[in-house]
Amino acid sequence: MPKIRFVETVLRDGQQSLIATRMPISDMLPILDVMDQAGYHALEMWGGATFDSCLRFLDEDPWERLRQIRAQVKNTKLQMLLRGQNLLGYKNYADDVVTEFVKKSVENGIDIIRIFDALNDVRNLQTAITATKEAGGHCQTAISYTTSDFHTMDYFVNLASQMAEAGADSICIKDMAGVLTPEAGFELVTRLKDRLILPIDVHTHATSGIAEMTYLKVAEAGADIIDTAISSFAGGSSQPATESMAIALESLGFETGLKMDKVAKIAEHFNPVRDRFRKSGILNPKVKDIEPKTLLYKVPGGMLSNLLNQLTESNLQDRYDDVLKEVPKVRADLGYPPLVTPMSQMVGTQALMNVLSGERYKMVPNEIKDYVKGLYGRPSAPLNPEVVKKIIGDEKPITVRPADLLAPQLPVFTEEIKPYAKSMEDILLYALFPKQGKDFLGRREDKFYDVPVQKINVTFATE
Ligand code: CO
Repeated sequence: MPKIRFVETVLRDGQQSLIATRMPISDMLPILDVMDQAGYHALEMWGGATFDSCLRFLDEDPWERLRQIRAQVKNTKLQMLLRGQNLLGYKNYADDVVTEFVKKSVENGIDIIRIFDALNDVRNLQTAITATKEAGGHCQTAISYTTSDFHTMDYFVNLASQMAEAGADSICIKDMAGVLTPEAGFELVTRLKDRLILPIDVHTHATSGIAEMTYLKVAEAGADIIDTAISSFAGGSSQPATESMAIALESLGFETGLKMDKVAKIAEHFNPVRDRFRKSGILNPKVKDIEPKTLLYKVPGGMLSNLLNQLTESNLQDRYDDVLKEVPKVRADLGYPPLVTPMSQMVGTQALMNVLSGERYKMVPNEIKDYVKGLYGRPSAPLNPEVVKKIIGDEKPITVRPADLLAPQLPVFTEEIKPYAKSMEDILLYALFPKQGKDFLGRREDKFYDVPVQKINVTFATE
C-alpha cells in the first residue's frame, strides 16, 4: 500500500494564515499529548511569525513555548520554518548568528528545520544547512515555488539537486501562494522522485480552491509528506483539512498512519478556540474565502488583501486593479522573484508606488535598492537593465554571497542586550527582533521598565 504522511500545521501556518498567529500557548497545552499520539509525521509549531507574535502580542517567551511543547510532545517530531540567512527576520544575519540560532533551536527541542530562501539562492541556505546537520537536526530545504517563463520544471529539478548536494535530508515544494496546480504538482513530484532519493514534502494553501486536488495528484506521483491543518483551522488561506485529506486518501488506498479518533479529538479541542477568535473578530471571515484570482495574477491571497487594505486606508480603492496589473510587471522587471516574505511585501510596495506616484520607479524603497544591488542574493532571472539603471545608476551589483560581507555580529548583540539577557537564547531573541525583544526582556528583568516607555508612547500618540 502506498504511504503518505502528514505534517500538522495548526500550531504555526494554520493559525498564522487565519488568525495572524495570535494563538497563545494556553490554547495548545491541553491537547498536545493527543496530538503526540495521532500519528503525524511532524507538528509544525515555530517560525518567524510565531516568534514575533509571542513577543509583540502575547508576552510569551518563544523559547519557553518551544520547551513547553517539547516537554509534552515526546514522540512526534517538532518542525520549524527558517528563512535561510534571514533566520526569522527580514535581513541577512552574519554566519555566527545563523549557526548559533540553529544550534539553540535544536537544543531546545526542534527536530526538523525547513529552510527556504525567497530567491531560491542556495548560497543563502548553506550556513543554516550545515548548522542543522552539525546540531543533529533534520534539514529540509524548501523550493519557494512560483511561476514564470524562467521557473520551468528543469529549473526546479536542478534547484532541488543543488539542495541535495548542499546537504538537504528532504525537499519541500513550498507553494505559499497556492498556485501549484494539480498538473504541475504531479509533474514536479514525478520529476523530483526520478532524480532524487530524498523524501518529498508538498506544502500548499487552499486560497485558490485547488489545493485538495493538488495534494491528490502529488500523492499519486509519490510525494512522501503533505502539510495539512486540523479542520478547525483549515481552508481559505490556510492548508486543506487534515481529516478530509486523510479520509479521501485512505479510501484511495493510501496508508496515512493517522489515528482518526485522536484526530477527531484534536478538532473537538480547536473548534471552540476557533469560535472564540471568530467572535472576537481576529478570525476575519474573508480569510476563508476562495480567491481564484490568485491563479490569474500569481499573487498570494495575503498580498491581495494587504494591497486592498492599504489602498482603502488612503481612500484609493479604485486604483486596486491598476496596482494588481502592476504587480506582475514589477515582478518581471526584478527577475521574477517568488512572492514570499520579504519579496511579497517589497514587490507590493513598489507596485503601489509605481501606480500612485504616476511614474514607474520614481520612488523606490531602500529594500528594493538593496535587492537590485544584489544584497538579498542572486535573482532567478536577469533584471530589466533599464530599471536597474533607474534605481542604482552605474553602481555595480555585488556577486558574492551577501552574508560574506558581514562581520560576526554575536559580540555586538551580546554587548547591546547585556543588562537584560540571561542566556544565549535571550541574546538571539534580541538579535532577531531588536525592539520587541528588548522590550520583552526589559519587562521581564526590570519591573519599572515599561513605565517610561509607555509615557513617551502616549505623548507621541496624542499629538
Ligand atoms: Co505556508
